[in-house]
Amino acid sequence: MESKAAMMVTILLCCSSISPAFAQKHKGPPAAAAVSLPPSPAPSPAAPRHVDLADLLSVAGPFHTFLDLLEKTDVLRTFQSQANGSKDGITVFVPKDAAFASLARSATANLTSDQLKSLALYHALPRYYSLAEFNRLGGAASPVPTLAGGEYTVNVTDDMGTVHVGSMWSNPKISSSVYSTRPVAVYEVDRVLLPMQIFRTDPPMAPSPAPAPDAKPASDAASPLPGKSSSAKAKADEKKSSSSPPSSRRGAGIAGYFLVLAASASAGLLLLC
Ligand SMILES: *[C@@H]1O[C@H](CO)[C@@H](O)[C@H](O)[C@H]1NC(C)=O
Ligand SMILES: *[C@@H]1O[C@H](CO)[C@@H](O)[C@H](O)[C@H]1NC(C)=O
Ligand SMILES: *[C@@H]1O[C@H](CO)[C@@H](O)[C@H](O)[C@H]1NC(C)=O
Repeated sequence: MESKAAMMVTILLCCSSISPAFAQKHKGPPAAAAVSLPPSPAPSPAAPRHVDLADLLSVAGPFHTFLDLLEKTDVLRTFQSQANGSKDGITVFVPKDAAFASLARSATANLTSDQLKSLALYHALPRYYSLAEFNRLGGAASPVPTLAGGEYTVNVTDDMGTVHVGSMWSNPKISSSVYSTRPVAVYEVDRVLLPMQIFRTDPPMAPSPAPAPDAKPASDAASPLPGKSSSAKAKADEKKSSSSPPSSRRGAGIAGYFLVLAASASAGLLLLC
């Protein structure tokens, strides 16, 4: 009798100590973020297990050029299924539109469809890495394989928290964390990754735009505020998100966006450029 009672107590203790940890593991950051969400008309499900990369990339950034590349090459599907289904997850390095704009048009104009596909795949690692985990990728762990496979590798360096992703012709910095919840990480980088396998020589840059931006308005309507500070950009994004319900494709997309904003703000993951 006594041992049975003792066992019951033990089981109860186990349960009570396990379940909070269990609950925390399954809705740690998302739950914290969800609490800070304003009441939304759509009943939002518990923790969203599924991250829609297209939704994510279309509301953040601007990352339109990269998203177009992913769609055109069908690499979006590869990334999404890696994000959906793999145990290891995925880490995507997303260049801003301005990064693509700084390359001369001729640099990418005559790439074959296979090369475009490899270029897109080269921007992702077949594993989830939090920002803090990049310091494991230096030294012997380099070079790091990408989803493009084979010799398409990058060198990742972490210099006191400033992470660079090295390709043959560029060494972009991770300028902000767009989304980072295991198994999916999406980081903004300030240059396009340029592998040797595609670019035999250093690809030409676009003729640099007039250094005096006030002289005349930028002709590129697709990317607003190309050279503005990140706080100006953040303000613009805020404005966009607070006044854009009609343009949202799905409630989930916008909810996800808020989640990302809340999560990155609360985790302090937003790095300054
Ligand atoms: C990823 O998962 C979502 C939700 O389960 C599903 O709608 C979508 O088709 C999946 N995509 C891929 C490429 O596996
Ligand atoms: C693209 O084609 C132009 C004209 O034929 C050529 O000058 C240029 O070197 C090519 N670019 C690449 C990256 O092959
Ligand atoms: C990575 O670093 C190694 C050793 O320094 C170097 O040989 C290689 O070219 C680098 N790879 C890239 C893609 O930069």
